Amino acid sequence: MTVLRVIFSILVLHVACMIYAQNDQSGFISIDCGSESNYTQNGTGINYVSDDGFIEGGESYDLSRIRNYRTRVYNTLRSFPQNERNCYTLRPQKGKNNRYLIRAMFFYGESRGQPPQFDLHIGADYWATVYISDPSIYVVYEMLHLTSSDYIHVCLVNTARGDPFITSLELRPLDITMYKQRSPSSLILNYRQNFGTNETVRYDDDKYDRIWGLPNVVRVRAVQASDAVSLKSFSEEQVPLKVMSTAITPINSTELYYRWNATSIDEYIIYVHLAEVEILESNQKREFNIYNNGIFIGTFSPSTSITTIMLSSNSPTYELILRQTLNSTLPPILNAIEVYTLKQLLQNQTDDQDAAVMWGIKSTYGLTNLNWQGDPCVPQQYAWVGLYCNYNAPRAARIRSLNLSSRGLSGEIATALANLTMLDSLDLSNNNLTGNVPKFLAELDSLTFLNLMGNNFTRPIPAELLAKSKNGIEESSGEDKSSSTRIIAVILAPIIACIVVLSIIVFIMKQPRKKALIKSEEVLTPRKQQFTYSEVLSITNNFQKEIGRGGFGRVFQGSVGDNQVAVKMLSESSSQGYKEFQAEVKLLMEVRHTNITSLVGYCDDNNHKGIIYDFMANGNLGEHLFDGRPNVLSWERRLQIGCDAADEMNEGFQAKLADFGLSRAYPTEDASHASSVKVAGTIGYLDPEYHSTGRLTEKSDVYSFGVLLLELITGRRAITEGVNIVNWVQSLVEEGNVEAIIDSRLEGHFDINTAWKGVETAIACVCLTSVERPTMNDVAMDLKHCVQTEKTRQSGYMSLNLEGLNDLKPR
Ligand SMILES: *[C@@H]1O[C@H](CO)[C@@H](O)[C@H](O)[C@H]1NC(C)=O
Ligand SMILES: *[C@@H]1O[C@H](CO)[C@@H](O)[C@H](O)[C@H]1NC(C)=O
Ligand SMILES: *[C@@H]1O[C@H](CO)[C@@H](O)[C@H](O)[C@H]1NC(C)=O
Ligand SMILES: *[C@@H]1O[C@H](CO)[C@@H](O)[C@H](O)[C@H]1NC(C)=O
Ligand SMILES: *[C@@H]1O[C@H](CO)[C@@H](O)[C@H](O)[C@H]1NC(C)=O
Ligand SMILES: *[C@@H]1O[C@H](CO)[C@@H](O)[C@H](O)[C@H]1NC(C)=O
Ligand SMILES: *[C@@H]1O[C@H](CO)[C@@H](O)[C@H](O)[C@H]1NC(C)=O
Ligand SMILES: *[C@@H]1O[C@H](CO)[C@@H](O)[C@H](O)[C@H]1NC(C)=O
Ligand SMILES: *[C@@H]1O[C@H](CO)[C@@H](O)[C@H](O)[C@H]1NC(C)=O
Ligand SMILES: *[C@@H]1O[C@H](CO)[C@@H](O)[C@H](O)[C@H]1NC(C)=O
Ligand SMILES: *[C@@H]1O[C@H](CO)[C@@H](O)[C@H](O)[C@H]1NC(C)=O
Repeated sequence: MTVLRVIFSILVLHVACMIYAQNDQSGFISIDCGSESNYTQNGTGINYVSDDGFIEGGESYDLSRIRNYRTRVYNTLRSFPQNERNCYTLRPQKGKNNRYLIRAMFFYGESRGQPPQFDLHIGADYWATVYISDPSIYVVYEMLHLTSSDYIHVCLVNTARGDPFITSLELRPLDITMYKQRSPSSLILNYRQNFGTNETVRYDDDKYDRIWGLPNVVRVRAVQASDAVSLKSFSEEQVPLKVMSTAITPINSTELYYRWNATSIDEYIIYVHLAEVEILESNQKREFNIYNNGIFIGTFSPSTSITTIMLSSNSPTYELILRQTLNSTLPPILNAIEVYTLKQLLQNQTDDQDAAVMWGIKSTYGLTNLNWQGDPCVPQQYAWVGLYCNYNAPRAARIRSLNLSSRGLSGEIATALANLTMLDSLDLSNNNLTGNVPKFLAELDSLTFLNLMGNNFTRPIPAELLAKSKNGIEESSGEDKSSSTRIIAVILAPIIACIVVLSIIVFIMKQPRKKALIKSEEVLTPRKQQFTYSEVLSITNNFQKEIGRGGFGRVFQGSVGDNQVAVKMLSESSSQGYKEFQAEVKLLMEVRHTNITSLVGYCDDNNHKGIIYDFMANGNLGEHLFDGRPNVLSWERRLQIGCDAADEMNEGFQAKLADFGLSRAYPTEDASHASSVKVAGTIGYLDPEYHSTGRLTEKSDVYSFGVLLLELITGRRAITEGVNIVNWVQSLVEEGNVEAIIDSRLEGHFDINTAWKGVETAIACVCLTSVERPTMNDVAMDLKHCVQTEKTRQSGYMSLNLEGLNDLKPR
């Protein structure tokens, strides 16, 4: 039996000496990483360029100091000791919606110790983990990539197993007709093997510069086409004649086997290339059946016209058999084979025009210190500093907000900005920008926030822009200072914000913002923390006013100095044990963010254990939301509350743990017991993962926050008549019925877009598994945008910050 043994390994190159020939390399991108010069490689004739224009950062390293390699590309590499992720950005001439071969090569070089291990990404998607078992061989990762963007980003991601590096990066345009599979996906190369030869074939025998490697074969005979055989017509895959003119057939057997074990759970796509290379006598016939994992594929009788068979399947082991038929006088033949795994690239990159603007801005202002690498928006975790993107736009991520405040920009406002058509917020404040404020800013339809203060623009400001801004008319009538101050106040409002204490305590509803702030500063001052029982008696005036009662004990109103407080006394029969009590006190004491911190002190005096919180008589959020009061919280107000709360949590998730992390302490707590003091950790808020893992994480807070957000949106409690709010909302979302989710008491007074966004954000927060939940930072950003959109929608004006331009009048 003839066995063709295939050992799965990464394609290892044996670069043989090849004849140099002038040929068309148009569209090729051949980068010698770490090289300082451009040159033509002896042998292949490939023109390599240095990686200067493709990457920022990293350190070039010259291996030839130790040993000079004949293949020059292996003499240098670029390594990346600094950033977690570094990207080469390629812009192929043919642009998007084309198929490209992308090949990254890694050669570490002997005697340099243990090679690193790191991840390779294409755009936002994982491609491979680069693993180098032997530093003296070249390791190649190759992909046939169908692009949907003009930009291709190949990124090296540090996974804490050594500094990533790269030796060369090559891009070759393919014809779009090549390697079509059922779905428009990319293909990751496993093997590409040419049988019956000792010579690696690549450019320019293969005009697409595929590298046809050499398999290990046993008990086979090589057959080569003689001059008398002329192979006809290329297959769709355009396999080069040089590859097709050699083949193998079995010795003393009627079968050829090709086997490998899957290393990926992805679907495998196999291309088998066949052509007859021998001259057959009239009484000879070559005919064989092909089986893929035992499944009959078909009967083939290769001619001098090239045939390519595409197979696909999903299996842990693979066995391809070519078996001679009874009628055949000759054994089977195999010329070449390619094995790929199918890769569905999931994340769409930034819109090309938006990306082009960002690359333009980066070069116009020489912004090399911001680590702007790879795609501007995608993946979200590596989005460029200063950008906020809309990831829900159809087709591609769009840039929504650009903040280049205090980035040392000089010169004029880049005209490229006119192409950021979905921009709704632009902050160019505190730079050295000069020249005219361009008119096109007024033509950006979505732009609702523009901050140009702290620059040195020439007058006048375009009348169109002033007309579009709320203060334009006032400004031209001379009340500059005051009106501009007013606008600034509007702009800063979301930041100053009211103070929201999530679940434990209180929500200040009607106090003016200024006051609220001052209040929190007073609360900030260090306070006495431990109280004796007799002090507690005096604080609560002998427990005169009970304001709440739960499984843990009772809550009383009291006062410490001018501060209204709530005193929670642990009952002796409480299900909250002493340990939990200590934990709660400890948690609350560790909390630094005073806007949420509500601990005034605690009492641990013999059998009397109690916790003293801030208490504000205006009532808590729940009362305003649920208790059928006549003044319904407006949609905008709800968004603002969500936004402020997210901000608070984002800045101090510790604080948040104090709120929700305490869920552990109140396993039997019932929401209905909470009146003025709503105890956190009621069942409905608790991260479902906690039940299985017993651990609360940062993402548990995100879950709890999501529930709070849903309460805000729906006006329903976390658990209503036994129905969990999360399930309730999810079922309505599935029906696409957002209107039904929003609190009916709003009577339709809300914007459907911000409503969708709010619901979407909340739903993301309450994903069952914590990894799927966004970070608190993302949530805060999303909500901020909702608030801004809602505000602008209501005002119908653009917020324009022109401080420092007050003396400039439109003409
Ligand atoms: C290498 O070639 C690129 C483009 O072909 C060019 O921009 C660059 O200046 C060249 N570098 C050197 C060092 O000649
Ligand atoms: C190509 O070969 C010649 C002669 O051996 C040598 O001088 C030259 O440096 C080589 N060029 C490269 C790029 O390796
Ligand atoms: C491969 O190389 C070996 C030794 O150089 C030679 O004997 C053999 O004929 C070659 N095989 C082919 C198919 O070229
Ligand atoms: C093939 O079979 C013949 C006769 O049975 C034998 O002499 C020869 O050694 C075999 N060759 C191989 C490579 O097994
Ligand atoms: C596949 O895996 C099996 C079991 O681990 C092993 O026996 C076999 O040699 C492997 N095949 C290949 C081609 O690596
Ligand atoms: C073998 O050849 C005969 C005559 O050419 C034909 O009738 C028969 O179908 C063939 N059998 C197979 C299995 O192809
Ligand atoms: C990505 O873009 C394609 C079209 O270019 C579109 O059909 C698809 O829905 C987009 N995917 C996402 C997740 O937006
Ligand atoms: C822009 O960033 C600066 C800090 O870098 C921040 O102070 C400012 O509020 C941001 N602007 C907007 C509109 O978010
Ligand atoms: C603006 O330019 C002036 C003079 O060129 C320079 O002194 C100043 O530091 C610059 N300011 C900023 C914020 O870059
Ligand atoms: C805006 O985009 C269009 C089309 O993508 C392009 O032709 C134009 O040059 C761009 N304008 C600027 C100022 O970059
Ligand atoms: C503003 O620009 C003018 C000239 O356009 C220059 O004379 C002046 O020094 C600049 N002011 C600042 C603060 O950079």
